Parts: sequence; C-alpha cells; structure tokens
Amino acid sequence: MKIIIKKTYEELSKAAADIIKEAITKKPNIVLGLATGSTPIGCYQELIKMHKEGLDFSKVTTFNLDEYLGLAADHPQSYNYFMYENLFNYININHKDIYIPGGTTKNVEESSKEYEKKIKEVGGIDLQLLGIGSDGHIGFNEPGTPLDSRTQLVKLAESTIQDNSRFFKKREDVPKFAITMGIQTIFEAKKILLLASGENKAEVISKALEGPITPQITASILQKHPDTIVILDTAAASKLKKQYQL
Ligand code: GLP
Repeated sequence: MKIIIKKTYEELSKAAADIIKEAITKKPNIVLGLATGSTPIGCYQELIKMHKEGLDFSKVTTFNLDEYLGLAADHPQSYNYFMYENLFNYININHKDIYIPGGTTKNVEESSKEYEKKIKEVGGIDLQLLGIGSDGHIGFNEPGTPLDSRTQLVKLAESTIQDNSRFFKKREDVPKFAITMGIQTIFEAKKILLLASGENKAEVISKALEGPITPQITASILQKHPDTIVILDTAAASKLKKQYQL
C-alpha cells in the first residue's frame, strides 16, 4: 500500500485525477471502477477540467460500485443519477460503455451475476476508485461481509443509513438495501485508489490501514492488495500511528 498525504481536499482531488489521467493516457480503452459519495466529487471535477483540455474518454469503460435498491436511475439520490450529474454528462464517454447496477432490476441475483460476467468479459477492472464509509465499508460492503463476496444484494448498516440520510429529506427515505460489487470483485481490480478526506474519517482510516485485516472493517483487505494507493488529506490521516511524509 502506498499512502500519500495532501494538505487539503483540493490537492487530494487533483492528485487522484492525475493518477486517473495518467492511466487513461497509457491505456485509452481502460476499464475504470467508479465510486459515489461526496469524497470523489472533487476528483470528478478535475477530470471534467482535464477533459476540457483534451483528455479523451471515448474508449473508456466504467463500472460503478453500487446502487440503492428501489431507486430508479432518474431518482435524484440514486447513484446512477449522481454519476451523470457529477461526471458522465460532462465528458465524452460512450453511454453504452457505462455500467451501474440497476436499483429497480427485477431479478437482483441474476443481474448481479451478469454484472460480474460483464466485468470479466472486458478483461477486469484496471483502476478502481474507492471512498470509505465511516464503518470501514468499501462499496456497500458493511462490517461482517465475507472477504470473498461478489456482487450481491446487501442490507445497509444503521450507521450507513444515518450517514447517508444527509442526502435525503428524511431518514426514513434512505433505502435499507443496496446492490454492491463484492469485496473480492473490488480486490481483483489491478490497481486501487482509495480516497478519504476529513477528520470524521481519521479513526476508520487508522483502523483500515494500520489495524488487523478483518471483515469488521472491509477496507482493511486492501492491505493485502498488490497495487493500492491511498490518498488522504491531513485531517483524515491525523490518527495514523506511523509517520508519513507530506
Ligand atoms: C456510500 C458509498 C461508498 C462511499 C461512502 C462514503 O456509502 N456506497 O462507496 O465510499 O458512501 O461516502 P462519503 O465520501 O460521502 O463520505
């Protein structure tokens, strides 16, 4: 694991976008795994700027980590909607090369299998972008999820429902279930880029990066991944025990 610490969220976002830009430049038909949440928004804004300056997404394929069960793609809180609003509407990606789990899919088991199959068909994910939940989840893989899990339907932890209620009118509006890539699905990405910003992530970041590898903090599995880069701002890094250079 390589850990990079930046002073601010803006610098963190730029550093993440630079890594993605370099990867696209090296392999124009790259397969990217993408994340939602507030953390990657700055990185997406940088990528949009880079696109305006010529970065070409026309051969890129993307797979998103997750989606709330029950939210249609045009629901403003759905992750489908989020991705178009925060990135896809502003870059030249072919919409047929965008894959996001469907929140209103009828047969979740079947479509989860299809999702895994599709990832394999395109040769696997080259670069997976991740945020981290305050309970240590990646995607929506909550504490206790077996580390060999694949894309599936999951029940959200109460703490996640509470965290994500800030995006909904009422807490009761937050879906209780979601479809998420599994931990093993994420782990199979050739390169992983985990971002975390702010003091409220400091505790979980110290557990995930320096604590034991455990299904209780699903991000901890990344300690075993051969090519993971973690980019933190100083606030998110403030509870790490080891000293890292800025
Ligand atoms: C959701 C998403 C995760 C994301 C997490 C953190 O639960 N499923 O992929 O990492 O939120 O969100 P934020 O970046 O807003 O803290």
